[in-house]
Amino acid sequence: MSIFKTKPIASLIAETEGKQGLKKALGAMDLTLLGIGAVIGTGIFVLTGVAAATYSGPALIISFILSGLACFFAALCYAEFASTVPVAGSAYTYSYAALGEIWAWIIGWDLILEYAVAISAVAIGWSGYAVTLLSSLGIDLPKAITAAPLDGGVVNLPAMIIIALICWLLISGIRQTSNLNGVIVAIKLIVIALFIVLAVWHVKPANWHPFMPFGFNGVVSGAAVIFFAYIGFDAVSTAAEETKNPQKNLPKGILYSLLICTALYIVVSGILTGVVKYSLFKHTAAPVAFALQQIGINWGSALVSVGAICGITSVLLVITYGQTRIFFAMARDGLIPKALGKVSEKHQTPVTSTLLVAVVTIITAGFLPIGIVAELANIGTLFAFVIVSIGIIVLRKRRPDLKRGFRTPLVPLVPILAVLSCGYLIIHLQTATLWRFVIWFIVGMIVYFFYGRRHSTLLRDTQSSSQEKA
Ligand code: ALA
Repeated sequence: MSIFKTKPIASLIAETEGKQGLKKALGAMDLTLLGIGAVIGTGIFVLTGVAAATYSGPALIISFILSGLACFFAALCYAEFASTVPVAGSAYTYSYAALGEIWAWIIGWDLILEYAVAISAVAIGWSGYAVTLLSSLGIDLPKAITAAPLDGGVVNLPAMIIIALICWLLISGIRQTSNLNGVIVAIKLIVIALFIVLAVWHVKPANWHPFMPFGFNGVVSGAAVIFFAYIGFDAVSTAAEETKNPQKNLPKGILYSLLICTALYIVVSGILTGVVKYSLFKHTAAPVAFALQQIGINWGSALVSVGAICGITSVLLVITYGQTRIFFAMARDGLIPKALGKVSEKHQTPVTSTLLVAVVTIITAGFLPIGIVAELANIGTLFAFVIVSIGIIVLRKRRPDLKRGFRTPLVPLVPILAVLSCGYLIIHLQTATLWRFVIWFIVGMIVYFFYGRRHSTLLRDTQSSSQEKA
């Protein structure tokens, strides 16, 4: 009975096929839009300001390229997995198939960090834009109720309220449909295009000097922070069971959405630091709107704020939904209490797990600053990327026979580059973040050995079938 036992891929696929079918309706275009919907949010609209002012300076654009490159290598690995194991559960399921239960547990536990903490960070970003918009309408909320204690306030109420609202929507069964997602993605893209068109004429090359005020190390630390902006393209793979021809379309959705977002981020970050001196971004929670204000285009600033609020809300819906699905998959496998995977009869939604997510994320969003929370989400995601990339090398060795709709090019070079580049970003996060991650990891191991291992469905089935044989 081994903690390294893997879940057979055939049984993973059969598990989903036996289920009452979700309609297989999504194509490559829908998936790309889904990816963009999950990706563009707090990272580009909020974190760019702090990253430019404290780490990257005008070299923010280089930070975006570095981070984008790490994501690209990892995305090529995700694409192969998604095309080989096209079932929900993303990195968690992939590791169960390639590396074994203990790794699946580690990733599942780690994804809780990625998703739950990202929910809080995104909500804090939402709050920044909501407060800025209200203030431009003449309604100034006191800082005490709009910022966390470490940011000079007492509690960030708007962030708490938006999470409560999103969880309530999810509990009552409202899911972002493909059509609604299309509309929201269009709003996001229009708002970003608007910013580019309005601001590009006001770029002053003098603002780009000095280019790297905090040195190259600063640029990499900036990359490690704005990595947050890329989180979410892996969410495409969670729609595996609703996709037509997933072997072909999932890789396309993952890679196209990443490429489009990267291109937009590079243009926006270049213009942002060209329009306003990087140091001025230090105290703004809404840098894109702030830049337009600085050049006197107040109506544009208000429009961007409205668009950002819509866009960030959709990110919240997708990742909160994603978190409940991960709980669902882990509970189905017996690694966490079954109650967390239970679907309420009244609403047909996982009420208990959504409530748990709500309580934890509301507290985090209310009392912690965005910097701390976003870095934690980043380390969780980067770690998942590392494991998935290693998984590709392992699965090629163990199961060369599997049918793969998409093959990561140049294996093992690309997965190794993914591991190295993600590792490089990890070590540039703050030391406190690394420690918080280590503590989370240790707690996870304790939970696994005292609970998960004892209740694992896979281990129990293996045990009973070997007893039968004996
Ligand atoms: N990438 C997502 C965002 O920036 C999480 O909001």
